Amino acid sequence: MNDAIKNLREALKISPDNMPLRMLLAETLMNHFQYADAEEEYKSALTIAPSDVKIKLGLATACYRQQKFSIAGVIVEELLHTPAPPPFTYVLHAHLLIKENKIMLASEEYRKALSLDASLHDDDLEEALKVRNTAGEEIVSEEDFDDSINSIERPKINFDDVGGMQKVKEEINIKIILPLQHPELYKAYGKSIGGGILLYGPPGCGKTLLARATAGQVKSSFITVGISDILDMYIGSSEQRLHQMFEMARDQTPCVLFFDEVDALGASRSDMRHSAGRHLINQFLNEMDGAVNSNDGILILGATNAPWHLDAAFRRPGRFDRILFVPPPDDIAREEILKVMLQGKPISDIDYNAIAKKTKEFSGADLKAIVDMTIEDKLRESFTKGIPSPIGTNDLLKVLKQINPSTKEWFVSARNYALYANESGLYNEILEYLGIKK
Ligand SMILES: Nc1ncnc2c1ncn2[C@@H]1O[C@H](COP(=O)(O)OP(=O)(O)OP(=O)(O)O)[C@@H](O)[C@H]1O
Ligand SMILES: [Mg+2]
Repeated sequence: MNDAIKNLREALKISPDNMPLRMLLAETLMNHFQYADAEEEYKSALTIAPSDVKIKLGLATACYRQQKFSIAGVIVEELLHTPAPPPFTYVLHAHLLIKENKIMLASEEYRKALSLDASLHDDDLEEALKVRNTAGEEIVSEEDFDDSINSIERPKINFDDVGGMQKVKEEINIKIILPLQHPELYKAYGKSIGGGILLYGPPGCGKTLLARATAGQVKSSFITVGISDILDMYIGSSEQRLHQMFEMARDQTPCVLFFDEVDALGASRSDMRHSAGRHLINQFLNEMDGAVNSNDGILILGATNAPWHLDAAFRRPGRFDRILFVPPPDDIAREEILKVMLQGKPISDIDYNAIAKKTKEFSGADLKAIVDMTIEDKLRESFTKGIPSPIGTNDLLKVLKQINPSTKEWFVSARNYALYANESGLYNEILEYLGIKK
């Protein structure tokens, strides 16, 4: 054992409540890559000073270093809610966000950290942000940083990380993945390639996740375009921005180009018949048709909660000519989702089936809330009791009682559209889901 560590331990034996000494030991352990031991020291320091932000940050860092990302994440969240988190909290948060592929948010957090303390400069972080940044510009030093410049990602998740949704996955496979991989075959059978898929359904049921996983599945790049971000821009520059996004995708093929909240665009058409918005829509349709430049090698996906607001022009062949309902996960899917979410976490024998049965109408996001809250409870417990215990079925059942399924509300309006505005059976899947006879 290192001498310094040995001496510190000896000294602590004599005065176990000497906080600065314990912190010094923890930091020394960190510097010697002994993260698990450091974690122990931070934990016992917390029993003496349970609300000390510095200790918590140390603990979060020690957990992060041991790849205990969800625990680190919970602690960082807690720190971010304190009035003045230590600047390094933002650095750690940025690292965690990168793990979740949230590059934009990560760079925001990193900038926040640097603005508070310039010495927090972090080479690894900058490297990770730069690699995934749009056109390779220095994201950190760019002053007029613009939220709608969504970075090009290389998602690490694939279809295996998305629980259930077999039908939607198959459709995506046949409609856009296979044509991308075997264009000659499709041509031989006279099947046209191109067009996009529009995913619709209640919030939190995995549309965005699935789009990202599609890119991971084909190992392609992934670009998200938030339509409302684009619409917020100055008149005239939105078209330019939209064109840039398509061009960026064309440069990056194979690429999944994902349009989130497309309804924002469609909804505007009638309201904006005489305004600038119409140009943007026409631009969008032209780009999608490949009228501007070829879209070979680009997979176009869109997502919306309100497909009924979308103009029929969007659904013509070659545009969003396949629209897929992404329903709330069924029993089996909920089991799978929970398994995916609890993977790698400390768990004891969990009766997934029992939990799935009790979470009808819950969205994937609702399930995530259950898992997150359970982990927080467990952490709190292990801080107070000092012994970490694994997550069990009862822990999850206890938490889920406090959460209401969020998909119900969506179906109230969806039902009306499906019953009274069901052009050419567009929303039959909703009726099927609700068990209403056509
Ligand atoms: N099938 C699933 N498998 C695993 N996790 C899921 C699944 N569906 C949802 N989730 C979890 O729920 C979160 C929210 O899902 P996502 O953001 O993809 O929903 P969405 O349909 O895009 O919602 P919104 O309409 O609000 O944009 C995901 O980040 C993920 O953690
Ligand atoms: Mg989404």
